[in-house]
Amino acid sequence: MKGIILAGGSGTRLHPLTKVTSKQLLPVYNKPMIYYPLNTLLKAGIKDILIIVAPEHAEDFITLLGSGSDFDARFSYQVQDKPEGLAQALILGEDFLDDESCALILGDNIFTDCLSKAVKNFQSGAKIFAKKVHDPERFGVVEIDVQGKVISLEEKPVKPKSNYAQTGFYLYDNRAVNFAKSLKPSVRGELEIVDLNNKYFELGELQAEVIEGQWVDAGTFESLHRASCIVREHELGMKGSSNLEVKIQKTQASKEGAKLTN
Ligand code: G1P
Repeated sequence: MKGIILAGGSGTRLHPLTKVTSKQLLPVYNKPMIYYPLNTLLKAGIKDILIIVAPEHAEDFITLLGSGSDFDARFSYQVQDKPEGLAQALILGEDFLDDESCALILGDNIFTDCLSKAVKNFQSGAKIFAKKVHDPERFGVVEIDVQGKVISLEEKPVKPKSNYAQTGFYLYDNRAVNFAKSLKPSVRGELEIVDLNNKYFELGELQAEVIEGQWVDAGTFESLHRASCIVREHELGMKGSSNLEVKIQKTQASKEGAKLTN
């Protein structure tokens, strides 16, 4: 399975923090935000990763992450000219995916769970990951039956039917690219991820799994601050062993060592 990290967009909700840099490069405690979704993919065993970025920040992402060798992985980059929706990631990733299934993760989503089991067990259709929240109207809201089958899925409903938010981690089989191509832009002019997921829902092929650990969509001042607090707790060992620990290979560590000794 291949991975896509969507790190485009203009991050307007975080202005002025995002006036000169990308939201996904902002610090979350002691690392740039994108390290965390990247780590979620790496920990799930996904090593071939496409990073989708806004044109004005492409260079910064390449400088930060490079070829992927420091992470024992392979990174490719794709520019998203305009923020035209999360589902556009699949269309932009068509050549990279080359008819394989994929895990898509949003560059501002931080998970403390290890999702490797779900990735390993995934066969076909689509799978979303849900988390109980107190403010479901901010998210895609999902109703799930006892077997994990989705009963309904709505984007930012005024009257949410459940307290479960759809998080920013999705597994798709190789039909997702064509489904994404068939979507019409929403009223806000974007190809919505919820509409892509609803294509699978209509076929009875959308599964959902409730995640146990913590989850933050770090796209607002409050949630960005909360994300830093969660990472800090893990870093300081307040929460025991952590899936947030980012493993960087020797090359970068030795580069850092070299810098220190020079
Ligand atoms: C997006 C999706 C939403 C999902 C959320 C998770 O919202 O549209 O369905 O619940 O990501 O982070 P956005 O953050 O773009 O408002």
